[in-house]
Amino acid sequence: MVVSTPMAPEPTVPGTTGETSKMEALASTVQSLPTLPSIVSRVVEVTNNPNATANDLAKVILTDPAATAKILRIANSAYYSFAKRISTITEAIVVLGLDTVRNTLLTVFYQTMHQDLQRQKGNPKVLELWRHSLCTALVARNLAGSQDVSFREKCYVAGLLHDIGRLVLLSRDPAKAGALVDEAVKTKRTLEEIETERLGFTHGQLGSAVARHWRLPPEICEAIGQHHQAGPTPDPKLAAIVHVATYLVTASKVGAGEGLRNDLNAGAKDLVGLDESRIGAILDSMDDVLKEADTLSGLAR
Ligand SMILES: [Fe+2]
Ligand SMILES: [Fe+2]
Repeated sequence: MVVSTPMAPEPTVPGTTGETSKMEALASTVQSLPTLPSIVSRVVEVTNNPNATANDLAKVILTDPAATAKILRIANSAYYSFAKRISTITEAIVVLGLDTVRNTLLTVFYQTMHQDLQRQKGNPKVLELWRHSLCTALVARNLAGSQDVSFREKCYVAGLLHDIGRLVLLSRDPAKAGALVDEAVKTKRTLEEIETERLGFTHGQLGSAVARHWRLPPEICEAIGQHHQAGPTPDPKLAAIVHVATYLVTASKVGAGEGLRNDLNAGAKDLVGLDESRIGAILDSMDDVLKEADTLSGLAR
């Protein structure tokens, strides 16, 4: 499985000319977005087809020995603790489900993106962002409760990738990305307001563009785009869950908060069905979420 960080060469943070319109600023970024390794991209393509079978997905994964080994290792890990040993990739897909297999490969790849970037730039904020993202994915999946597996896995992946716009900005110009955060903290305004003024777009909009570039389902792209506002989207419940999850993880001071304003949208809170006692219970369980994130990070490595 190819997992090197496929960041585009020579990217710059656009939108600083003063004349560039917001859409042009975002469009110029879209041309140099990170790309998915071909195996992950083909897995996304197969899982986007609602009629795809375990055999269809197995055929694709078996073309990549490293991805095959990784899926088998994770399926047989204590994290899933299945009663019997899983020895073929088709069996793994049947027990885990197509969406979970896709998300596992995306998690492995996304962790590698963070690790490569941390190695290249030595910026400790990158690994904090990784922890924040994985915890948001786990909290989002928990918030989906007893909904069907496919919806739960959508919550996981949208939670996992919700701050990919911040990762892209950090990879391109860490000093500039840091300055945006510093300005937001100092002025007590939201990071999105500062990004819109300085860049012409928010990290949510940039992340949504990355997700579209990776051909993820539109409702996931929109949830990533709306993760701080929780505005109208094709799947308001999904967007609300991702918004609430990142709010709760940030409120627990798990990475990527850095003293930034952390606002909870009341409409999203109602849509998810959260009251103060449930919020308190989730915040109290954050240590368990962190432990689970560390276990998953160890498996994905
Ligand atoms: Fe964010
Ligand atoms: Fe976040």
